[in-house]
Amino acid sequence: AVTAVIVVAAGSGERLGYGMPKAKVPLGGETILMHALRGVVAADVARQICVALPKGDAELRQLIADFTVELVDGGPEVTVVDGGSTRADSVRAALAALEDGTEAVLVHDAARALTPERVFQRVADALASGAKAVIPAMPVVDTIKTVAQTGASDSAIAPEIVTGTAPREQLRAVQTPQGFELATLRRAHDAAELFDDKQAAAVTDDAMLVELLGVPVHAVRGASQSLKITTPLDLIIAEGLLEGPLG
Ligand code: CTP
Ligand code: MG
Repeated sequence: AVTAVIVVAAGSGERLGYGMPKAKVPLGGETILMHALRGVVAADVARQICVALPKGDAELRQLIADFTVELVDGGPEVTVVDGGSTRADSVRAALAALEDGTEAVLVHDAARALTPERVFQRVADALASGAKAVIPAMPVVDTIKTVAQTGASDSAIAPEIVTGTAPREQLRAVQTPQGFELATLRRAHDAAELFDDKQAAAVTDDAMLVELLGVPVHAVRGASQSLKITTPLDLIIAEGLLEGPLG
């Protein structure tokens, strides 16, 4: 199938705390975005790579333009769109910019800059085998509990009370790239465009929108190196991965 990869890189990187968009933050002498893009190109699963950037960021647009020059003939076409105010808005902007004839799409977080090629390939292979939706997933190491805010009387002890413990063997921590039949993902994002603010704020990945359509989502194995660089600690881990035997 003709496949595109959407790389969402339009976030502001608040939690990383560098005072600049996360895509620009240095990692191993480059930017996080460049690591992510090199990984996507190396995986060799797509004809088009569409990158959602912070609206109006000339510096990142130039970075992409310079990178495009490096690509050999026959390599993927790299296009750029302005991202939106939420991740889902950024995905929607990129979905609207894919070339005619695209049949499948992988949506990838630029923040997962060190995702191994094999994960892209696993997702693409599952799509080629007929899945309409595929996510990379990892077993969870922590015990995960649900909580609620306590009423006035309990809040003197602690602000939250445990309401349940999820069975860990059924839980997965979900990563990107997430792969979809293009028509299915477009349908899912069209539906999500009608969400109110509270519903929109609860959208944390693309697969959950496809789940709402009742389309089966298949899980393949992800990788530890695909960690989402979110906090300063994550950046230290990513630097360590580049220096160490896994880099
Ligand atoms: N993203 C995006 N457009 C947005 C928000 C997020 O393209 N409006 C992208 C980010 O660039 C990132 C991915 O979605 O690659 C995952 O988001 P996250 O890790 O939350 O990144 P930021 O939103 O930049 O970080 P923070 O939430 O700490 O501000
Ligand atoms: Mg964010």
